[in-house]
Amino acid sequence: MKSIILAGGVGSRLFPLSREYYPKQFIKFKAFEKSLFQLTFERTLKLSNIKDIYIITNEKHKFLVLGQIEELGYNFKEENILIEPIGKNTLPAIYYGVKVIKERDGDDAVAVFPSDHLIKNEDEFIKIIKEGVKLADNYLITFGIKPNKPHTGYGYIKPGEKLDIGYKVDEFKEKPDLETAKKYIENGYLWNSGMFLFKTDIFEEEVKKYCPEVYEAFKEDDINNVYRKVPDISIDYGIMEKSDRVAVIPINIKWSDLGSFDAIYDVFDKDDNGNIIHGENVILNSKNNLIYTHGGKLASLIGVDDLIVVDTRDVLLICNKGDSQKVKDIVKYLKQKG
Ligand code: GDD
Ligand code: MG
Repeated sequence: MKSIILAGGVGSRLFPLSREYYPKQFIKFKAFEKSLFQLTFERTLKLSNIKDIYIITNEKHKFLVLGQIEELGYNFKEENILIEPIGKNTLPAIYYGVKVIKERDGDDAVAVFPSDHLIKNEDEFIKIIKEGVKLADNYLITFGIKPNKPHTGYGYIKPGEKLDIGYKVDEFKEKPDLETAKKYIENGYLWNSGMFLFKTDIFEEEVKKYCPEVYEAFKEDDINNVYRKVPDISIDYGIMEKSDRVAVIPINIKWSDLGSFDAIYDVFDKDDNGNIIHGENVILNSKNNLIYTHGGKLASLIGVDDLIVVDTRDVLLICNKGDSQKVKDIVKYLKQKG
């Protein structure tokens, strides 16, 4: 089985920790001493031979990718790192990988992994993927997680007719608003984990059918021309919402998309007052805060609750817990300002 690792995102919701030149998937978290990218790479090795792993990223991050793999003690073939001239979201990134795999080896099953996930019981997950591959002869497979809150940053999946393993998907809805998300949870929808499994031929058929602009753009010989033409679209909006050949396999694993500071707060260990403080600190009468300081600076808190404070060399971020999805708007604003 082949694997594609998506490692081209900038992680703008983790600004100012995650930066264009050093995005979140490459940051090493003290708690597990490796980056999310490194953890993803090691997980992928349990499924595919190293020569069958493809990493889709961009010029800026190529050396971070190679360096972090080397640090793990592996030698990775550079020709399996596919460089996008510009990021056009996950559909072009995945299709780029699929095209190259098809050209080199013909039709095959491919698992797609984002590089910003933390998975706790991963051996069990790998087992499920290996069993699930049976479904790939007929379906594009998603992996569904039981939701625990009406998160608006995820895709939602309604399981339908029961299959051998998993279910046919009745509806796939990417990033609904809060009201809709609440309704979905009441009606037994699952979260889309963001990992996929399919055969390259079926995937291409669906791209041709539902996103002909993407299909056509990839007929260009020069990858720069491909990316100039190809629309910016995610696999979720482009294919999964539209295709009627989607299946879901529910997975009961500890999974987290460390996409925002709120998600980080949820995952990591807290002190008795619910605080997570990186570095030296003095805390009086304060609870449920996430505080990061740069360069050993002492954090001192008095009587504040539910805050996110991220202090880096050049940027200070302060926001209420629960609002961290909006951090990406700051990045957008700064980009527009230039
Ligand atoms: N190579 C490349 N190029 N990678 C990219 C690009 C790109 O243009 N854009 C994003 N990625 C990578 C990111 O680095 C990440 O690893 C992965 O693709 C997914 O992109 P996100 O931007 O993190 O997507 P999301 O979290 O908003 O939504 C997706 O994941 C959710 C679960 O985590 C969707 O699939 C949702 O439906 C899903 O619930
Ligand atoms: Mg994500």
